[in-house]
Amino acid sequence: MHLPRMAISLVLAALAACMLIAINETGYNQSTRALSQIAEYTNTRSALNRLLQHVLDAETGSRGYLLTGDPRYLEPYNAAVAEISHNLDSLRTVYAPNADEFATLAQLTRNVQRKLAEMDLSVRMRKQGNEDAWKFVLMTDVGKEHMDAIREQAGKLISSASLKVEAAQAQVEKSLMLSRIGIAAVAMAGLLAFYLYLRQTTALKLAGEQQQAALQQERDLLETQVRERTATLAELATHLQQVREEERGQLARELHDELGALLTAAKLDVARLKSKLGAQPPEIGVRLQHLTETLNSGIALKRQIIEDLRPSSLSNLGLTASLEILAREFSERSGIEVTPSLEAADLDESRQLTIYRLVQESLTNVGKYAEARQVEITLRDYAKHVEVEIRDNGKGFDPSAARPSTHGLAGMRHRVEAAGGRLTVASRPGEGTRIAAALPKSMARAAEPADA
Ligand SMILES: Nc1ncnc2c1ncn2[C@@H]1O[C@H](COP(=O)(O)OP(=O)(O)O)[C@@H](O)[C@H]1O
Ligand SMILES: [Mg+2]
Repeated sequence: MHLPRMAISLVLAALAACMLIAINETGYNQSTRALSQIAEYTNTRSALNRLLQHVLDAETGSRGYLLTGDPRYLEPYNAAVAEISHNLDSLRTVYAPNADEFATLAQLTRNVQRKLAEMDLSVRMRKQGNEDAWKFVLMTDVGKEHMDAIREQAGKLISSASLKVEAAQAQVEKSLMLSRIGIAAVAMAGLLAFYLYLRQTTALKLAGEQQQAALQQERDLLETQVRERTATLAELATHLQQVREEERGQLARELHDELGALLTAAKLDVARLKSKLGAQPPEIGVRLQHLTETLNSGIALKRQIIEDLRPSSLSNLGLTASLEILAREFSERSGIEVTPSLEAADLDESRQLTIYRLVQESLTNVGKYAEARQVEITLRDYAKHVEVEIRDNGKGFDPSAARPSTHGLAGMRHRVEAAGGRLTVASRPGEGTRIAAALPKSMARAAEPADA
């Protein structure tokens, strides 16, 4: 919608510019033509004035000569006569295209020639000494009549030239006025277009801002939704972990109470049978011995399973001892040297379990992936929080590379964060792995891990 409007503005602007140029050009052409006409008509007018002046000069010269007989008067007379014919020639070329005025000029020319002939006649007779004759010519009205006619016709032509000059001047004024109005109008139109353009730009900007605001709002909404969903999922995960631990505890208790009681009862029965039967017959003694061993390994297996499900050492011996046992058993199983350095810490059962599971999963990972020779397990006790660190010298990995199907580290992080703590996984290929967690003793926010 905005693009065509923009195009229309552009076309209008181009049109206005073209109009401005056209008006200006037309005015310029008309003015130049009118000005050259003015120059031409002014020239013609002065040529006519000069003609009159020369005729008068010629008359004055001839009169002077006639009255004094002094040949010096003939000089201006002759010069004026020469100029007159010259003048007439040039006027003829000027008036050639205009039939009416050419006719007037022809009459003027005739009268001028008659006047010249009359003066020539009197001068010649004066030269010949024919006094009466030249005086007679002078006395008649012929010269005056010719002169009047010349004045009248020249005046006619002069006033017509003046009229034309005025007309040309009017034309120039008209052109100037036209340019003035045209330029003013186009300038106003330009201002109007500019105003419209500005208004449109502002409207566009406003629309853009509104759109931006709407987008921002939508994004905020989405972010809130994502945050809410993430929180829900985290709660769910915490709940599932709790349920899992509870179920494992329940299972461990049942195995201990029920299966334990059964196995113990069976073992007691076997012992009683053994004492009753004595060594008779020997085959039965061997069988009973085997049964006792089977029962013993059953009891050991039960204990192992219970321990795996829920480390009883945790409630019986405390976190430090349980971790030491875990470390020792791992070291025996895997052949990797484990150095525990554990401070006693006063923690509730759920945090103890969190730390136990963290160390357990880290050791499992070391056994599965690290190819390490040494592992250090550190537990440090501070006033408000504890720090746990498991560091191996194995092959390391890139923690930023996403592994969608693995959940050990993610579960660890979730558990630690659910307890208000923070987990740091620092590793690089070839440089070992360091898992560190800072856990508050109460639900307040944990301090940063010592050297994370
Ligand atoms: N100590 C370690 N040394 C080397 N690589 C490790 C170590 N711990 C974890 N990893 C790498 O990180 C990945 C993710 O581990 P984890 O989240 O525990 O998932 P899983 O144990 O199910 O594979 C592992 O697949 C392994 O490549
Ligand atoms: Mg794992």
